[in-house]
Amino acid sequence: MDEVVVRRRDDGALELRVNGVFVMDDVETTSECLLARTAIDAGARRVLVGGLGLGFTTRELLGGPDVERVVVAELHREIVDAMRSGTIPGADLLDDPRLDVVVGDVRDVVAAQPSASFDAILLDVDNGPDFLVHDQNAAVYGPGFVATCADRLTSDGRLSVWSMADSAAVRATLAEHFVDVVADAVDVRLQGRDERYWILTGHAPWTSDIVPT
Ligand SMILES: C[S@@+](CC[C@H](N)C(=O)[O-])C[C@H]1O[C@@H](n2cnc3c(N)ncnc32)[C@H](O)[C@@H]1O
Repeated sequence: MDEVVVRRRDDGALELRVNGVFVMDDVETTSECLLARTAIDAGARRVLVGGLGLGFTTRELLGGPDVERVVVAELHREIVDAMRSGTIPGADLLDDPRLDVVVGDVRDVVAAQPSASFDAILLDVDNGPDFLVHDQNAAVYGPGFVATCADRLTSDGRLSVWSMADSAAVRATLAEHFVDVVADAVDVRLQGRDERYWILTGHAPWTSDIVPT
């Protein structure tokens, strides 16, 4: 059983830890919001998000003018409960009729969706393929799950993956299933030092019409 801790630090920041490992805080959330912008800026109406966390990606998404439906898969019920109780700000999000939060593994939640049912899938469930909090999340970045995501996306849909580091392996996996793959660097300043996070996006899943032979 994972130990989930949401706590206010002495410096006033809200911090999320799982099994003693730092997952995120609310000090620098540019990249979480930019993850949502990859869908909003493309005019996505139906979006599936992996990982509720402290809710920044979800809040940004729900502010998108075209967004009609957001499904968030969150592994830990404690995080949803903490948002409901106000420990994590966002009870207002949970009341938004466009939002459906499903407690479960994002791999199962995506697999349960019909084909071509989302315009965008956004994954921020771990610190990236090379910095896993949960070993089983390695599969989130693997070809099987990326193929499932591609199938659940519309023909002009996109899959965006937040990562602590650029990953040639993830880009190559995306390229097996998407026409166009882009790696966007996000420069952030964390605790007095410069860091660079990444959003890796595959645009337009290959379809039977255009799969290269
Ligand atoms: C880095 S946080 C997400 C941050 C979020 N983008 C935000 O803006 O606050 C990662 C979240 O994914 C959840 N998570 C981890 N593995 C998961 C999985 N396999 N399926 C669904 N959620 C998962 C964690 O419990 C955590 O809440």
